[in-house]
Amino acid sequence: MSRGILIVFEGIDGTGKSTHCRMLGELLTEKGIANISFAEPTKGKWGQKIRRLLSEGRNGVSAEEELEWFLNDRKEDVELNIKPALEDGKVVLMDRYYFSTAAYQGALGFDPHEIKRENEKFAPVPDRVLIFHNPPEKSLERIESSREEKSSFEKREYLIDVQNIFKNFSGSNIRFILSDDTLENVHEKVVRAVKDLFELKL
Ligand code: TYD
Repeated sequence: MSRGILIVFEGIDGTGKSTHCRMLGELLTEKGIANISFAEPTKGKWGQKIRRLLSEGRNGVSAEEELEWFLNDRKEDVELNIKPALEDGKVVLMDRYYFSTAAYQGALGFDPHEIKRENEKFAPVPDRVLIFHNPPEKSLERIESSREEKSSFEKREYLIDVQNIFKNFSGSNIRFILSDDTLENVHEKVVRAVKDLFELKL
């Protein structure tokens, strides 16, 4: 089976990961490397339920149900989008994947390692995971300023826990990207962090 390359962009909101996911996609296209991007939560039926939860608050939805919805959404994404693209030999760029579930739902009290293991039973393990983060003082500033609770996912203490889980991921496929720099410099860091996956092409 010919297999593409799976690169994942992770981190708390406001670190610029979506922009950099798009920029890497554009660079790959320029270089003639077939690529496709997906974002989670998806726009599918589970993703829509999740979006409602994000905008309207948890409203009696239990943490177990929430975790289950993210897993169901991902199962659908893996079957419909991710696996077919990888089997097609494409580079697949993901704006969030199961490290977000481990961090965000882990911060609700589930064991992040257990969540990771559960996901890896059905979800392809990424070739590279780029975890975007801000310097601690910047992150805190941002978290503090979101106190009016734009959504239940942005509560201060919760996001600090999420961030701590992200910081503690380790593995040979993990790279941390400090995003407090110009767009060009951060893009350069992203390219350096994935270059070896493409031999001499980038
Ligand atoms: P995202 O689409 O990245 O945010 P935005 O609304 O800025 O486009 O993600 C939406 C939220 O979903 C984000 O706060 C993180 C959360 N999330 C989880 O809690 N678990 C998950 O598994 C995923 C993929 C996202």
